[in-house]
Amino acid sequence: MDMRPDMKVDLAGTELHNPVMPASGTFGYGQEYKDYFDLSILGALVTKSVTWEPRYGNPLPRIAECSQGMMNSIGLQNPGIEHYLEEDLPMLREIYYGPVISNISGSSPEEYGRLARAIDGQEQVVALEVNISCPNVKDGGAAFGADPEISRRITEEVKKNTSLPVFMKLTPNVTDIASIARACEEGGADGISLINNFKALKIDLKARKPVTAMKYAGLSGPAIKPIALRMVNEAFHAVDIPVIGIGGISNADDVLEMIMAGATAVQVGSANLVDPWTCPDIIKELPKRMEELGIESLDEIRGVI
Ligand code: DHB
Repeated sequence: MDMRPDMKVDLAGTELHNPVMPASGTFGYGQEYKDYFDLSILGALVTKSVTWEPRYGNPLPRIAECSQGMMNSIGLQNPGIEHYLEEDLPMLREIYYGPVISNISGSSPEEYGRLARAIDGQEQVVALEVNISCPNVKDGGAAFGADPEISRRITEEVKKNTSLPVFMKLTPNVTDIASIARACEEGGADGISLINNFKALKIDLKARKPVTAMKYAGLSGPAIKPIALRMVNEAFHAVDIPVIGIGGISNADDVLEMIMAGATAVQVGSANLVDPWTCPDIIKELPKRMEELGIESLDEIRGVI
């Protein structure tokens, strides 16, 4: 009998064979990773935020390295919903056969609703992740996710326009994450994804200027993991819907910490950019670490903290 630890998770009604998925924006539409490993081993795959119209994103430079992390200010570069549905999703389906989570971003509740409606019914798409936390745009973005009322409104608007489970992706740049998570739950959210990155600043001393063109950029990577764990734990205790844990995960132990903090599943972000094999390595390591730690299933440890 196979006694391998059970990595399966139920994510708002969808069964994932493991809890590991790449985070939005760190994995494109899979094309850059398909030659490194078989993408179908992923628990799920989250695509880069799509907006209604195409966007070029912010001026360069928009990436900076820092100790134990990185900063980015991409500005939601993406080809727009039409190209996403007609080119990117079909091409993804040729290289990946598992569950897709479509991340959407808008500058008004109405735009989020239109995007939700456009994606509803797409093959392989099992959920929407709603980005109300981009730190790098003028209109909306993290400003939406910092306001409980707007967070609720956007959740309601998306729910009205889709039959898919809806995960609201929250910004950590708030005083009280529990109140935002609760507002999303009240608006009908099926789950919460957190955290997005921290608004940050890196300075070039010689130039006496910010390193990134837009001045501020979002900090991610191992540096933010302890804060992510605290916020995932706060959200877990504030709501009754599943939480996807994100923030600085780069190995199997990080995943187990996130699940103990309350996460149902996890997303790996910056680590993909450091090492494209991070997700497959974690998926391979996870059952071994579970065995070593005497964990038989992820359900057994979820939210024990
Ligand atoms: C961008 C958006 C995000 O939500 C994020 O976490 C990082 C970058 C962006 O496109 O600027």
